[in-house]
Parts: sequence; structure tokens; C-alpha cells
Amino acid sequence: MTRLIILSLIFLTLNSCSKKTEKNLEEKTFPKKEWWKEAVVYQIYPRSFKDTDGDGVGDLKGIISKLEYIKSLGIDVVWLNPIYGSPNADNGYDISDYQSIMKEFGTMEDFDALLKGMHEKGLKLVMDLVVNHSSDEHKWFQESKKSRDNPYRDYYHWWPAEKGKPAFRPGAFEVDGSGWRYDKTTNAYYLHYFSYKQPDLNWENPKVRQEIYKMMNWWFKKGIDGFRMDVIPFIAKDTTFPVITQEELNKNYEGRWDVYMASGPHLHDYLHEMNKEVLSKYDVMSLAEGAGMLKSTALNFVDEDREELNMGYHFDGVNLGYVPGYFKKMNPNWSLVEFKKIYSDWDAVYKTKGWGTIYLGNHDQPRMVTRWGNDVPEFREYSSKMLTTFLLSMKGTPYYYYGDEIGMTNAKFDKIEDYRDIETIAEYEKIKTTGGDLNQFIEDQKSGGARDNGRTPMQWNASNNANFTAGEPWLSVNKNHADINVEIQDKDPNSILNYFRKMVKLRKENDVLIYGAYQLLDEANNETYTFTRTLNGRKVLVLLNFTEHDSKVVLPEISKIPEVLINNYETADITENTITLQPYQAILFKLN
Ligand code: GLC
Repeated sequence: MTRLIILSLIFLTLNSCSKKTEKNLEEKTFPKKEWWKEAVVYQIYPRSFKDTDGDGVGDLKGIISKLEYIKSLGIDVVWLNPIYGSPNADNGYDISDYQSIMKEFGTMEDFDALLKGMHEKGLKLVMDLVVNHSSDEHKWFQESKKSRDNPYRDYYHWWPAEKGKPAFRPGAFEVDGSGWRYDKTTNAYYLHYFSYKQPDLNWENPKVRQEIYKMMNWWFKKGIDGFRMDVIPFIAKDTTFPVITQEELNKNYEGRWDVYMASGPHLHDYLHEMNKEVLSKYDVMSLAEGAGMLKSTALNFVDEDREELNMGYHFDGVNLGYVPGYFKKMNPNWSLVEFKKIYSDWDAVYKTKGWGTIYLGNHDQPRMVTRWGNDVPEFREYSSKMLTTFLLSMKGTPYYYYGDEIGMTNAKFDKIEDYRDIETIAEYEKIKTTGGDLNQFIEDQKSGGARDNGRTPMQWNASNNANFTAGEPWLSVNKNHADINVEIQDKDPNSILNYFRKMVKLRKENDVLIYGAYQLLDEANNETYTFTRTLNGRKVLVLLNFTEHDSKVVLPEISKIPEVLINNYETADITENTITLQPYQAILFKLN
């Protein structure tokens, strides 16, 4: 049925009083312009983007071969997950040599060619900085574990066994959950917040800090444009390692270990020092992976007057809707009201200082359309476009994950043997040890958060292995690649891919979408997300339907026929002051 477009029935009567308040708000909030605030960041998981040598693992030459495609997206910055020398216990987040390239990914010459190729195309390159920990195969650790008086001993955190067992610290990827591992050579335990293959570096040692700054300077002198900093709030520790009781955790750290881990003494001294010794010397961007970062602490990292980092990303959004007591099991009835509150409250954190980010997917998350949209054939396209609209019309630098631009979905593997991720395998083993329901676990991961869901190879076309590799892919290609791929969508003007390109362009052409003040309009509505962005008298209204049915929204009063900036449907059904949004419909109106 053709829907009516009755735009003429809309009236704008914003009274002068509310106009005045808005104006004040704008003046106060207008942030200083920076290139990294205006950029759209595209994240590439190099292992899964494009393989050119047939070993089943993506490589740098593969990324080079796709630079035209990357440029065609309209994005400005590429963030690459770690590409350094690594034994790959955690796919590169365990670095054995910070100044080399992982052999599966290529050589330093390939890297230089990639950087040059990107810069020639006007694209910036941001690397991953993993310095809370190294690999246990790094030469520093190899030395450190040799003897108690080795010059590298204090590069890591050791606890002599004669003092008894150290106080509990969590070790994320360990079946027993412990962050300490006993090493018999020196009769001591060492600290690892992740797997035992990822020993934590001792930032309290000034030599360690100097080594890291030297390495960062080396990469910046090569010409890279920034770092995304892996679990950076975890670097500082109380090296007396006191016992932390549950009461203390509850009282001081919201009962959460990640908050405790992000609250080390001297953290901000180190970040300020890093800024002085490295970051401030170049025109580069820095992004904190905000593990344990709270609304109340975020500005300590990114308030420009403190001279630390540029931006951080929080976990409140992506942690919403997990069922407590289960590993990343998703509650399908997560609340949109809560979702809006999280993003609105975080927007408020950066109202007058600092700068935020916005993302719905990355290499640690399930695919955004499966988690926040709807990946059934009927709604996958609409909901992917709707989520893309959300990401590119919010305030804060958008981070967009490879494959989301074609609506890639969770892998939904049927058996544990299909998984490669250290985290999922450890969780499976935990359940096995405790006699839990393993089949239920596999089932829960299909819509939930097993990280391999978001790491399957890029779907370039319908051919075998989606043209990702001529060999055996390191992780299976999603079966739906015959229908969901770049080749099909590139040709289709209405595809998700071309919608993403349009939306990026729209953001670039309308700085109200970058710098404009954000205001939530429909706080209590659990079906739609409606907000405005306002800058210097210009105003954009964003309407998003998060459900699979029609949903009505009462529009704010407006005085003239608004221009539709983008719409993921052909029509907009407006009657008087009410708009009926179709399933997963997204519309942007330019109000003035
Ligand atoms: C970060 C990374 C994740 C990695 C972990 C340990 O959370 O994003 O992929 O496993 O740190 O380095």
C-alpha cells in the first residue's frame, strides 16, 4: 500500500523561550574543532579482511588490494587490530615483538607500502597499542623469568612463593579464573589479567615506561596517525597486591573487578607522561579502550586540560542486555529505554569537556545487526541501515566495524570445534568442569557474544570462501555469504553498503551531525529512539524504530515542511503531528 506523505500538516512553533535555552546550550557546548572529532573510523580485523597468499589468514597485502574499496566508503581513518609479532594466543593481543610485523600478515615493507598507499588516498592509519601486557614469548619476559636478579625481572609483576599465595586477581581467559600463574624456575607467581600467555607489564618501573614511549615514538616517526589503546586503564597497579574483599569491591568499585583494575594509583601520571613524551609531539589521535571506565571517571582521561588522551569508549552500551550469571547470553527483550538512557547519559558526560565515541560492534562483540537489530531476511537490511543511521547521527566519533557495512551477521556456529577464540574455549571448559549445560552454552552464543561471531572473514562475493582466501580460512566463512556480500551490494543502489556510503557523506556535509548538541525526545518510549542535533540554529531530527512492527511517534512541533535528509524506506507516513515509522525505519529530517 502506498503510504501517504503529508508533510504539509506539520507545524513548527518552537517558542522563543525554549529557543533561547537551546542557544545558550549550544554556545556552551560547542567543542573545539579537531580532525579526529570529524572522522569516521573504520575498523579492520586484519586476520579476516583479505588473504593474498592462500594461508587462510588475512594479510597486509590483502588490505592494500582493497584500498580502493576502503576509500569508496568515504571513511577517514582505519584502525587495525594488532599486526605485530605474536604467537597468537589471543590473535595478536599477545605481542612478542612490538617493532615487527606478524609473519602471517607480511613484512615491514608491506606495512610501509600500506601506510604510503593509505596516505596517498587521504586515509589515516591508527594502530592498536597493547601495553598492559606483552606475550610470554617477548624477550623481556623470557629474561624476566630466568632469575630473581635478572635485569628484566621488574618488567613484570612477580610474587615470591615463600610469601604464600598472592591475593586473588582475575585472569580473563583462564579456566580457573586466576590472574596469577606459578613459575617454578624462580618459585614465584606472575600476574596476567588475561591469559597466562599475556603477562602484565610493570608500569611502576620507569624503564618499562621509557621502552614503551620509545616504541610509540618509533611508530609515530614512521608516520602512523594514532593509537587505540588496549585496556589502557588497567596499566597502573597497587604493587603491594593487597587482599580485596567483596565488601571493598562493593563499596569502592561498584562490585566490579574491572572498575578496581582501572583504578590503579598513578594511572593518570603515566598517561600524562605518555602525552608529554609522545602524543603531544605529533598531530595524532589517541583512543582509550575504556575498560572499567565510568561516567564519573571518563573525563580524567579525556579532559583536554589534563593533557592525557583524546577519546575513550565505554562498555555500558554493549554490556546492556546480557543475562546475569551466564557468559554473554543475550536477553532478547533488552530495554530500549535503558539503551537510550545509557547513550544519553554518556553524551552528557562530554557536554562541556572531552569528547566521546560511538560504536555498536568490534572484534570483541557480536555482529551489531544480530544483537541490536534483527538478522532475519525480512528485517536484516532495514535494521542494519537503521543502526548505521544511529551510529552516524550521534555525537562522538563513530567507530564502524568491517562487514557491518554489508550487514554481516553472527556466525552462529553449531559446535565448539568451530570456535577459535581463547575466551570462548575457556568459558566452554569452565562449564564442562562445573558440569553445566554445554549444548545450551553453544545455543546461547548464536545470538550472544562469543567473539568469533564478529570475526568471520569478510564476504567479498558469492564464490567459495567469499573470495577471502584461496586456501582454508582460519575461521569458517559465514554460510550466508552467497546472499550477503560486497559484490552484490556494490551494484545495488539501495543496498546496506550504499546506504552506509550515503550516511557517511551526509555526516560529513552536515556538521550539525558532528558538533551539534544532542537532545533525547522520547525518553519513555520503548520502541523508538528520537533525538535532535542542534548547531548554530540548524537542527536535525532523527527518528529510529527499533521494532519489527509499525510504531507511532508524536513529532515535535515544527513550522515548515522539513527536508528528508535520509530515509531507509521509500516513504514517510506522516499525519498531522504523528509519524508512523515502519519496522526498523530510520529517517533524518532537517528542521531548520
Ligand atoms: C582488549 C581487546 C581484546 C583482548 C584483550 C586483551 O579487550 O580488545 O580483544 O583480548 O584486550 O588484550
